[in-house]
Amino acid sequence: MRHTIVAGNWKMHKNAAETQQFVNDLIENMPNGKEVEVIIAPPFTNLLIATQTLEHTNIGVAAQNMHQAEGGAFTGEISADMLKSVGVNTVILGHSERRQYFKETNALLANKVDTALRHNMRVIFCVGEELNDRKNKQHLNVVYYQLKDSLFHLPKSAWNNIVLAYEPVWAIGTGETATPEQAQEMHQYIREQIAIQYDKEVAENTSILYGGSVKPENSKEIFSKPDVDGGLIGGAALKVEDFVNIINNG
Ligand code: PGA
Repeated sequence: MRHTIVAGNWKMHKNAAETQQFVNDLIENMPNGKEVEVIIAPPFTNLLIATQTLEHTNIGVAAQNMHQAEGGAFTGEISADMLKSVGVNTVILGHSERRQYFKETNALLANKVDTALRHNMRVIFCVGEELNDRKNKQHLNVVYYQLKDSLFHLPKSAWNNIVLAYEPVWAIGTGETATPEQAQEMHQYIREQIAIQYDKEVAENTSILYGGSVKPENSKEIFSKPDVDGGLIGGAALKVEDFVNIINNG
């Protein structure tokens, strides 16, 4: 069901002790009565600390990546079963850093999505264009093919476990944010494409987060757009105070 989500993508930040401190502080400072789903996505090594500490709270934990195979000779990789065994039921897939630095393609990501869903996991799937795509007015097209090639093979029922995150690559970690209007344009476009591929109900039930230099100061305006259902936060999710302020704007 569509709802507001604020998720923190920690990337390669925080060791075990720092994770423990963060979750303790987050529990203490969590706003009351906000109808926002809060998720943190620490590195693999800290997932168990997070799930154990957050077990009796309503703060969720996601992984930042996952391998598509069930298991086997894939040195350095982590499977869906391993994530589930430490209490992680949500995984971020298709982040632009995975696409850019680890050469993850739409086709590979389709495989990862299938594996995650087979394990009844929820996927936060990232899409987004590069600066050149936007300059060449190809941004809608690029995002369309990311959706089509990685997600549109799924049956309608699978969409209960899909959350989307629109993250323009030029806005990630750069301090440059899409304007609320640019975000709204893309989110509305994505929803329309889901409605065309499936139906209006699936489109209306899908949460679409915005990501890319979201901060306490700009989150309220971005989140207020009708097709923006919260955010996927990088840098500003690393400090409890900033993260809580963003949650408060959700
Ligand atoms: P940022 O990262 O908020 O630091 O721009 C967002 C993301 O990569 O998910």
